[in-house]
Amino acid sequence: MESSEKVVAVIMVGGPTKGTRFRPLSFNTPKPLFPLAGQPMVHHPISACKRIPNLAQIFLIGFYEEREFALYVSSLSNELRLPVRYLKEDKPHGSAGGIYYFRDIILEDSPSYIFLLNCDVCCNFPLRDMLEAHKRYGGMGTILVNKVSAESANQFGALVADPVTNELLHYTEKPETFVSDLINCGVYVFTSEIFDYIQDVSIQREGRANLRRVSSFEALQSATRNLPTDFVRLDQDILTPLAGKKRLYTYETMEFWEQIKTPGMSLKCSALYLAQFQLTSPHLLASGNGTKSATIIGDVYIHPSAKVHPTAKIGPNVSISGNVRVAAGVRLISCIILDDVEIMENAVVINSIIGWKSSVGKWSRVQANGDYNDKLGITILGEAVIVEDEVVVTNSIVLPNKTLNLSVLEEIIL
Ligand code: GDD
Repeated sequence: MESSEKVVAVIMVGGPTKGTRFRPLSFNTPKPLFPLAGQPMVHHPISACKRIPNLAQIFLIGFYEEREFALYVSSLSNELRLPVRYLKEDKPHGSAGGIYYFRDIILEDSPSYIFLLNCDVCCNFPLRDMLEAHKRYGGMGTILVNKVSAESANQFGALVADPVTNELLHYTEKPETFVSDLINCGVYVFTSEIFDYIQDVSIQREGRANLRRVSSFEALQSATRNLPTDFVRLDQDILTPLAGKKRLYTYETMEFWEQIKTPGMSLKCSALYLAQFQLTSPHLLASGNGTKSATIIGDVYIHPSAKVHPTAKIGPNVSISGNVRVAAGVRLISCIILDDVEIMENAVVINSIIGWKSSVGKWSRVQANGDYNDKLGITILGEAVIVEDEVVVTNSIVLPNKTLNLSVLEEIIL
C-alpha cells in the first residue's frame, strides 16, 4: 500500500432505543459494551481494525450519551496508541445518515479508504483481505458477505453477486420471499465517494418533501415519505439502487459469522471469540489443573481480579468478569459471569448469563438446555438477582433485583 493511503474505521453502535431484544442485559450497559469472551462487544472489531496498515483513526458513532462511552474510548486510545473517538448523534440518522452527519470529521485526515462496521456482528473481520480485494475491484464499496441457511436468509440483507467479477448485482434488505442465501455481513469498505451518494439520497428526499408541501400528488407517497430527509439507510437507500452499476462488489468469508441480537447469541459468540483467542491472543485464555488454581477445561477467560477457588472446575466456554468470587466445589459450563457476582460453594451454572452483582447460593443450580435460538434456551439473571441456597433455576429469565427462594422452570420473572 502507498504510505500516503490512509484508512479510517467507523463502527456504528446505535443507541438506547435500538437493541431492545438484548434486554434485560442492556438495561445498565449499552449493548456494544457487553462483554463477549471478557472484552466489550465492540472491542473485537476494534482489535481487527488495529491490524489494518495505515489506520489513522477509529470512530464510534451512536446516539448513546457521551458519558457511557467516555471511559472506554479514552482507555482504548491509550491501549492502542491510536485516536479513538465517540461521536454522538443528536438523534438516529440511520446507518448511512450517521456517517454523513459526521463527514467532515471522518474526512479530516483525507483517508483513501473508510471501513464501516456494524457493532453487533461476530466474525474474524478479515479487513486486510477485504481491502486488497476492494482495490482489485476498483469500485466505490466492497461488502463482506457469507452464505447462511435458506430459512434464515430473510433476516438479513440478501444479495446476488456475479460469480466471476464479484460485482453486487441485486440487493434486497430482509426480503419477504427467498432471494438468495448469500447475505450482507454488515462490514464494508468504501472510498470517500460514498458521501456523494448519501448526499444525493438526502437531496432527492428534500426535493420530494418540498414538492409534497406544494402538491398533494398521490404518486409521491412512497414508502420513504415519512422518513426525515437526513435519515438515510445504507441498505435500502444506497446498496439497493447501486446494485448492478459496477460501483459495489462483494468479498465472501468462509469463516464464522453471527449476528448478536439476543442475549443467547452473546453466549454463542463468546464461545467463537474464545476459540479465536487460541490464534490471536492465547495469553487471554486461562489454564490450570486444580492444584494451585482451578481446573480449566477448554476455552476460558478469567479477569485477573476474579477470585476462583482451586477446587472449582471451569469450562468450556466460560467468561468471568472483574471482582467475581467463585467458591469451593463450584462447576461452571458455558456461561458468562458479569462483574461483582458471587457463586457460592458447590453451585452449578450451565448455559447461563449471570448479571452484575448477582449471587448464586450454595448447592444451587442455574441452568438451561443451551438452545441459542430459543427465547428461554439460555437462563439469564439480570443485575443484582439473589438465588438462595439449594434453588434450581432452569430455562428462565429473571429481571433485575429479584430474590429467588423457590425453584423455577421456564419462567420469565418480572
Ligand atoms: N449511529 C447509528 N445511528 N447507528 C445505527 C443507526 C443510527 O441511526 N441505525 C442503525 N445503527 C447501527 C446499529 O447499531 C447496527 O450496528 C447497525 O447500524 C445496523 O443496524 P440496523 O440498521 O438495525 O440493521 P440490522 O442489524 O437489522 O441489519 C443490518 O445488518 C445485517 C448484518 O448484521 C443490515 O445491514 C443487514 O443487511 C445485514 O445483513
